[in-house]
Amino acid sequence: MLTELTAVRYVTPLREGGSLPGVVEAADDQGAYGTYVMKFTGAGQGRKTLVAEVICGELARGLGLRMPRLVQIALDPVIGLGEPDEQVQELLKASGGLNLGMEFLSGALGFDPLAFDVDPVEAGRVLWFDALINNVDRSWRNPNLLRWQGDLWLIDHGASMIWHHNWRTAETAAAKAYDASDHVLTPFGPDVAAAAERLAPLVTEELLAEVTAQVPDAWLVDEPGFETPDDVRRAYAATLLPRAKTVHERIILPGTDLKDATK
Ligand SMILES: Nc1ncnc2c1ncn2[C@@H]1O[C@H](COP(=O)(O)OP(=O)(O)OP(=O)(O)O)[C@@H](O)[C@H]1O
Ligand SMILES: [Mg+2]
Repeated sequence: MLTELTAVRYVTPLREGGSLPGVVEAADDQGAYGTYVMKFTGAGQGRKTLVAEVICGELARGLGLRMPRLVQIALDPVIGLGEPDEQVQELLKASGGLNLGMEFLSGALGFDPLAFDVDPVEAGRVLWFDALINNVDRSWRNPNLLRWQGDLWLIDHGASMIWHHNWRTAETAAAKAYDASDHVLTPFGPDVAAAAERLAPLVTEELLAEVTAQVPDAWLVDEPGFETPDDVRRAYAATLLPRAKTVHERIILPGTDLKDATK
C-alpha cells in the first residue's frame, strides 16, 4: 500500500496540467510534512487515471527508472475553503477522501528536447517502458518528463493503458503496435533492443503483483465485470506480462517496416 498522508494545506494549482493538479502540503501521523503534487479523484478524467498513475509509476520505479515517490493523501475539502478560484473549489469539493500524491520535485524544469541531451541507452529504456504501458502522453508537445538535479524524471502516466477502458478487448488492444513517431525521445537514437534485453526479464508476475497491490481498493471496487479489486489487479498484470516479452518488436520508429511492426 502507498503511504497514507493527510492534506493540511492547498498551496497552488498547477495550471500546465489538464487535470488541474495542485501542490499541497501533507502530513504523516507523526506530523512530518512534505510537499506533493496532488491528482484529484474528482477531476474529469476519473479514477482510472489515478490507477494508471500508480501502476505505471510503480512499474517504472521497479524497472529502475526515475519516478518521484507516490503516496495516497486523504483530503478534507475544508482545507480549500479559502481558495479564491472557483474551479479549484469545485475540484476539492468533488475530491473528499483519498487522492494521489507525488513528491514535488522543487526547482524541476520541464524537459526541453532542444536544450537537453539524453543518451541512447536511457532514451531506449524510457521509450520501451512507454511502449509497454501504451503511453500516448510523452510527445514533444507534452513531454511529461522533468529535469531535476541534472537527471531525467518521469511523471504523468494517467493516459496510459488505454485498454483498461474496455476490458473485453484489452488483450487484443494490448497486442497492438506502439507508434513512437511523436515520442519526445525518438530523436535521441533510443536503443530499444538494449532496453528490451535489460528490462523485459524484470517484468515478472511478482513485480506486477507488487505494483498492482499499491493501488488503493477504493479505486478498483465495482469495476464492471470483476468481483473484487484483486481480480482487477490480476487483469492488469495478465495484460502487461505478455506484452513485456514482445513489445520491442512492435515499436514503430521512423524507418520501421510497418508490416513487421503491425503483424
Ligand atoms: N512531481 C512533480 N514535481 C514538480 N513539478 C511537477 C511534478 N508533477 C507535475 N509537475 C508539474 O505540473 C505539471 C502538470 O502535471 P501533470 O503533467 O502530471 O498533470 P496532468 O493534468 O496529468 O497533465 P496533462 O495535461 O499532461 O494531462 C507538469 O507539467 C509539471 O510542470
Ligand atoms: Mg502532463
